[in-house]
Amino acid sequence: MSVPNVPRRALRSRAWFDNPDNIDMTALYLERYLNFGLTLEELQSGKPIIGIAQTGSDLSPCNRHHLVLAERVREGIRSAGGIALEFPVHPIQETGKRPTAGLDRNLSYLGLVELLYGYPLDGVVLTIGCDKTTPACLMAAATVNIPAIALSVGPMLNGWHKGKRTGSGTIVWKAREMLAAGEIDNAGFIKLVASSAPSTGYCNTMGTATTMNSLTEALGMSLPGSAAIPAPYRDRQENAYRTGLRIVEMVAEDLKPSDILTREAFLNAIVVNSAIGGSTNAPIHLNALARHMDVDLTLEDWETAGKDVPLLVNLQPAGEYLGEDYYRAGGVPAVFGQLIEQGLIHQDARAVSGQSIGEQYRGAVIEDEDVIRPFARPLVEHAGFAIMRGNLFNSAIMKTSVISEEFRARYLSNPDDPDAFEGNAIVFDGPEDYHHRIDDPALGITAYSILFMRGAGPIGYPGSAEVVNMRAPNYLIKQGIHQLPCIGDGRQSGTSGSPSILNASPEAAAGGGLALLKTGDRVRFDLRKSRVDVLVSASEVVERRRALEAAGGYAYPESQTPWQEIQRAVVGQMDTGAVLEPAVKYQRIAQTKGLP
Ligand code: FES
Ligand code: MG
Repeated sequence: MSVPNVPRRALRSRAWFDNPDNIDMTALYLERYLNFGLTLEELQSGKPIIGIAQTGSDLSPCNRHHLVLAERVREGIRSAGGIALEFPVHPIQETGKRPTAGLDRNLSYLGLVELLYGYPLDGVVLTIGCDKTTPACLMAAATVNIPAIALSVGPMLNGWHKGKRTGSGTIVWKAREMLAAGEIDNAGFIKLVASSAPSTGYCNTMGTATTMNSLTEALGMSLPGSAAIPAPYRDRQENAYRTGLRIVEMVAEDLKPSDILTREAFLNAIVVNSAIGGSTNAPIHLNALARHMDVDLTLEDWETAGKDVPLLVNLQPAGEYLGEDYYRAGGVPAVFGQLIEQGLIHQDARAVSGQSIGEQYRGAVIEDEDVIRPFARPLVEHAGFAIMRGNLFNSAIMKTSVISEEFRARYLSNPDDPDAFEGNAIVFDGPEDYHHRIDDPALGITAYSILFMRGAGPIGYPGSAEVVNMRAPNYLIKQGIHQLPCIGDGRQSGTSGSPSILNASPEAAAGGGLALLKTGDRVRFDLRKSRVDVLVSASEVVERRRALEAAGGYAYPESQTPWQEIQRAVVGQMDTGAVLEPAVKYQRIAQTKGLP
């Protein structure tokens, strides 16, 4: 690989390290970067300075392997003629952060924007992996719009227990039911769950992490074929090296996020999301990224572009396999190969490789047709999201492809009205309320109740909790009833296979209709019309609204940290990405005025 011929003046890092018009500041900027051994010749050589935005740490085990991969990234950067500066990004561990990791996506975004803007960086390698680390990094790169390439840390190896694959998250829901049914004890519960995490890397199921890393590749923001490589494989180390090489060339080419993250790229990602059986968190994160990129993208686009695309990838929770199988079967390229053949992909969209999506993926083959199905033999015909509406919210999403036979038989089998059912609402205010009361027989939950979770949106439970997929009470599980319909203004883990109606916007805490709902209300669910409505009179709704306003609105817990309070004041709703609203205009500022 040749050393790119970068005109010295074109590099933004020159404003710090090599500015003859301001020798005072140049001397100041330079001297401290010399104190760990970088030389003056290096810093004034005209070599591009490449940031390695490090999301791995002991606090974030899913991304921790990036501490190792960063060494290969550095060698790639150095080999291509650049200088690497590694720095920490605010860690986000999906499973470890209280009250919810959802709170930290926008904080991590905000911190990274300041680093990319305020330091002498000509380009950046974004180390992505665990659920929110991916959108946080991409959103920051979109705002600042300097050349950026993402490096996935990769999924863990497959988990195994007694000869069966155990997948991240998915096994938790199953083990919890086994515990409730008395099939395992507490120690057995922990052992079964731990079996799903045999190595470094992120969730090995098609949860939010595999989804977002696949969609990053689909958007064109990481090297082709890279998303699915398991973390411990040698291919992952090679990929880290190639990513380092490539970012130096991208700086020379001035290939920026705005050249890659076009509307066509987002539409491609939506199609891929359906084909892989992607997480219900994907619309939140991609809509947020589009807003920070100043690209027009709405929830309706998810329905129009994605709803009828079939499910091809046979990974848990919708299917049976895990991350290693996904990689072995061909990963994202094999999925693109099928979708391109069907004319479903905007092939001209550009990628970080410098090639178009069509050039990269046309003709890519499936290596194992049980793991990645050919388009003609899908797992599910229509695998996208339905956008639900009604008098309780303006929009909510539902992954209809995961509706089980058990669920269909119980709720959707009335011959006169096969796509609809009515049930009584059981309303929980936040996850703590649900945990306290779900097994209380006094609630009177039956097989025909509809469970509601409110107070779990971006404001109500700051950052929005992944709690809408609620389990049935233990006494129903013992009778063989595992799944009740769930609806809420919170999110759901991507590793859950529950057909909940979630991300309801506006949330109760923002004055949404869910705030008016009462336990015992009759609710009608209609899949054909994509509606959920509470069956109370208009005058009753007016009266409840009046009473709610008189009480000062929907009550939610106080903030526990300064960031919770700050985010609550400026965060938007989930249908538009739950972004920090004042932040979205800065992409336009960067575009029109440029960077220092
Ligand atoms: Fe980090 Fe799933 S918990 S990737
Ligand atoms: Mg999650």
